[in-house]
This record gives sequence, structure tokens and C-alpha cells, in this order.
Amino acid sequence: METDLPYHVPVMAHEVVTGLVGDGDGLYVDVTTGGGGHSEAILLALGSSGHLLACDRDSAAMNEAGRRLAPHRGRVTFLQCAFSSLTRSAAPLLRQLSQDRPEWAAASGVLFDLGVSSHQIDASERGFSYHRDGPLDMRMDRGAGVPAGQLLAQIQETDLVGLIWKYGEERGARRIANSICRARDAGELNSTADLTRAIEVTRPQMPNKTLARVFQALRIAVNDELGELERGLDAAIAVLGTGGRIAVIAYHSLEDRIVKQKMAQLAKGCVCPPSLPICACGLLPTFRPVGKRQSASAAETAANPRARSASLRIYEKLGELPR
Ligand SMILES: C[S@@+](CC[C@H](N)C(=O)[O-])C[C@H]1O[C@@H](n2cnc3c(N)ncnc32)[C@H](O)[C@@H]1O
Repeated sequence: METDLPYHVPVMAHEVVTGLVGDGDGLYVDVTTGGGGHSEAILLALGSSGHLLACDRDSAAMNEAGRRLAPHRGRVTFLQCAFSSLTRSAAPLLRQLSQDRPEWAAASGVLFDLGVSSHQIDASERGFSYHRDGPLDMRMDRGAGVPAGQLLAQIQETDLVGLIWKYGEERGARRIANSICRARDAGELNSTADLTRAIEVTRPQMPNKTLARVFQALRIAVNDELGELERGLDAAIAVLGTGGRIAVIAYHSLEDRIVKQKMAQLAKGCVCPPSLPICACGLLPTFRPVGKRQSASAAETAANPRARSASLRIYEKLGELPR
């Protein structure tokens, strides 16, 4: 369904471009292109001989980004893929691009702007929102995976408690899972409105944040978002050249923790237990953090509430260090 709302307003676009784009002639990868807002900002910051690989697992996002980035034709290549499969999916494109420009065999920067776009939330037929009635889908890529309705039809109540607790960090997980399973078993769980009702009846004056947490938990499970992030970071690390940068915008602590811990380990190198007097693993740092974690400015959060929870981290890939 078309809406009059803007597709998506990119978050911290200035900070992303400033921290990520260092080589105007380089190849950059936006693995979460969405409506193309950050992609466009990157293309504008690149010189006329820089190039962008614009990726998303959602075909609707690819279409929107195609329209928005049409003025940059020739400097952008589109690729519909989940970022966990970036290494495999992008390999033939990188081979092709690097025939003319050998330095494009590796990327100068990779951007992750995690989660869902405003459009995905606003489009009722995608089933992401407790504000709108729609099918229990929640897949970012509607051509793959298991929709939320199917997951809910098959899941055991104890597993649903774990899912809501782990991915939604919701204390009422037990009560809510029980209510959802009762609605399901009574044949009354067929839409996002039904799911919202099943959550709401567990508490008088149910706060929106609980609804948001349960919907978030299901969305994370349906799209394997945390597994995708782990594998996506590995893919980005593999595709990046020396001196290249990774920028990640996370919107909740589960994602942010994965990024922080993985990159802290790569910045540290050595994995020996602290009790060992000298390093036995020989692993050296392969990344360095670029500045500290950044949040959106007060002006941006006032204009775009979505920016309130954004956490931007940037890292740079180091060259071979002497052993
Ligand atoms: C916050 S939106 C990005 C918005 C974009 N930066 C812009 O300026 O319009 C996140 C996008 O990432 C996509 N996405 C999330 N997880 C993904 C994954 N594992 N692989 C590929 N795309 C993913 C979603 O489909 C969504 O379009």
C-alpha cells in the first residue's frame, strides 16, 4: 500500500558520511540501503569516480532506492541480498567492477543502518506495527523465510516466553506468551490487531513500550536479525580493504552489544586468558575504533524521534602489522 509519509528519513547522515567516506574514488557498500537516504548522502560525498554498491534484502526497498538514486546512474550498482550473504552475492559484481578499477576489488567503506525502515513500519501489509492492522508477516524479504503467523502457529509456549524475554527484554514475557498461545489455540490470532489484543489483555493500561518490545522480539526472530548481524559483520570485514571503514547504526542494546563486543575483540587481537604471562595466540589487532560511540544531536532527535535510540560506531581496518 502506498502512503503519503516519507519513505524513511536517514539518521545521523552527516556523522555517517564524515566518519565513513575518506576516499572520494573508492567503492562503498551500503548493506541496508532502504529508501536510499544514506546511499544518496554517500554518493554526494564521493567524487564523480567513486562507486556505491546499494544492497537490501527487501525488494520494495530496492525499488524505492532505484528511483531515488536514478540521478546517480552509472555510479551505483544495486544488489538485493541479505548482508549475511554479502561475500558470496557481491563477489561477481566486485570482480566485474575491478576489471576497470583494480582497487575496487575491496571496499573503502561499509554501512549498516540496522533494523527496519519507517516505510516497512508504516506499510500495514508488512505486519511490523502494532499501530496498524495487517497480516502477521514481519519478513523484510517477503520472498524468503517464515512469516510471524507461521512461527506463532508452531512455537511451544515455553519457547515463546524465551523469545520475548531474549529479544524483547520484556519482564511480562511469561504472561504475554500464555495469552498469545491461548488466542492462537482458540483460532483468534490471525492479524497484528489480534496479536496486539492478546498482549493488551494481560495488563490494564498496557504501555506502548511493551507492545513495541513484543513486536520487536518477533521481528528479530522472524528475520534472524542478530545472526544476520554477526554474519554480516564477518562479510563486511572480509570485503573491506586496508584503511577501509565500517559504520554501524544500532537502535537497541542487543544489536549494539554484538557490534561493540565483536569489534573490541578485533581491536584487541590477542585472545589469551589474562592469567597467561605472555601471549601464546599471536593474534594482532585488525581494527581500530574511530572516535567514540556517537548519538544523534538534540536537534535531530527533536526533528526525527527515530534518531533518539541511534548509536553510531565506526571502525577502521588496519594494515598488516609486523609480528
Ligand atoms: C533502517 S532501514 C535503512 C534506511 C536507509 N539507511 C535509508 O536511508 O533509507 C534498514 C534497512 O535494512 C534492511 N535490512 C535489515 N536487515 C537486513 C539484512 N540482514 N540484510 C539486508 N538488508 C537488511 C531492511 O530491509 C531496511 O530496508
